[in-house]
Amino acid sequence: MQIASNIVILPPVKLVRMHVYTHRPQISAAVANIKKKGLKIGFVPTMGALHRGHASLFDFAQKNCDVVVVSIFVNPTQFNNPQDLETYPRDLQADLAFLEGINPEILVFAPGTTTIYGANVKSLDFDFAGLDSVMEGAFRPGHFEGVATVLKYLFEIVQPDLAFFGEKDYQQLQIIKRLVELEKLPVEIIGCPISRHEDGLAESSRNQRLSKQHREAAPFIYKTLMQAKALFNDKSTSEVEAFVENEFKDHALFNLEYFEIANASSLAHASEKKENEHYRAFIAAFADDVRLIDNIALN
Ligand code: PAF
Repeated sequence: MQIASNIVILPPVKLVRMHVYTHRPQISAAVANIKKKGLKIGFVPTMGALHRGHASLFDFAQKNCDVVVVSIFVNPTQFNNPQDLETYPRDLQADLAFLEGINPEILVFAPGTTTIYGANVKSLDFDFAGLDSVMEGAFRPGHFEGVATVLKYLFEIVQPDLAFFGEKDYQQLQIIKRLVELEKLPVEIIGCPISRHEDGLAESSRNQRLSKQHREAAPFIYKTLMQAKALFNDKSTSEVEAFVENEFKDHALFNLEYFEIANASSLAHASEKKENEHYRAFIAAFADDVRLIDNIALN
C-alpha cells in the first residue's frame, strides 16, 4: 500500500517529567543505555488516543519488565481508508498526561512519519499464509501489511525483550506472532486479555466517536458474542452464525459487517467443530460510521 508522505508536526512537549523521544538517535541512545545495564525492555506500541485498555497493557508490561517503552505513532500505511487516517484522534499532550498519571518513568517514543519511513511511506510484503486474507484482512485490504511493516521498524528501533498486544485485535496478534517468526525478530509477543467497560463494551479509541445513543446500545455486541458462546456447545457453527446474523438484522442501530467462527490459531473459517481444536467468534459491526470489532473464545 502506497500513501503520500505526510509531515507530522509534533506539538511542544510540556510535561517535563516524561522522557519523550521523537528521533532515532535519542531513542537508540536510551535503548543502548538500558541494554548496557542488562535491564529487560517491555514495549507497548500504540497509535495514541490512550484509554483504559492501553493502561492494562502498560500494567502487564510493568509487571514483567524493568523498563517500559510506549510508542505513539498513527501509522499511515495501515489505513486503507484515507478518511479514517485523517479523522483518527491525535492528542499527544493528553496521551502524555495519561501516561504520566500511570507512571512518569515510562519512556515514550513519539516519532514523525519520516523518522519511521524516511521518504518511502509504504508497506513491505509479507507472506502470512492466509492469516491476513480473512475477516479484517478481507475488509481492510493492505491493513495488516501496514501493521507488520511499522512493527518491524519499531521493534528494530526499540529492541524490546517483550511486546504486549491486546486480544481485542486477535487477528493482528496472530499476524504479529507470525511476523516475528518470519523475520526472526528477537522479541517475545505477549497477548493480553480484552479490557472491557463495566457494561461489557470492549475498550477502544473509536468508542469516543460513538453517539450517546450508540454508546448506550453498544453492549449489545458483547452480549451477542456471549449468547453465541453459550449456543456453541450444542449448535453447529452455521446455526450460531445464523443466530447472530438474525440478532443484527433486527437491530435498528448496528449493521453487521461480519460474524465469523474461526480456528483460534489458523483463523480458518470453522464449518465444523473438531475435537481438541480451539475456536473463537469474531465480529465487526458499524454504529453509523464507527466500526467496532470484538471477539470471544468459544471453548
Ligand atoms: O493496534 C494498534 O494500535 C496498531 O495496529 C499498532 C499495533 C500500534 C501498529 O500501528
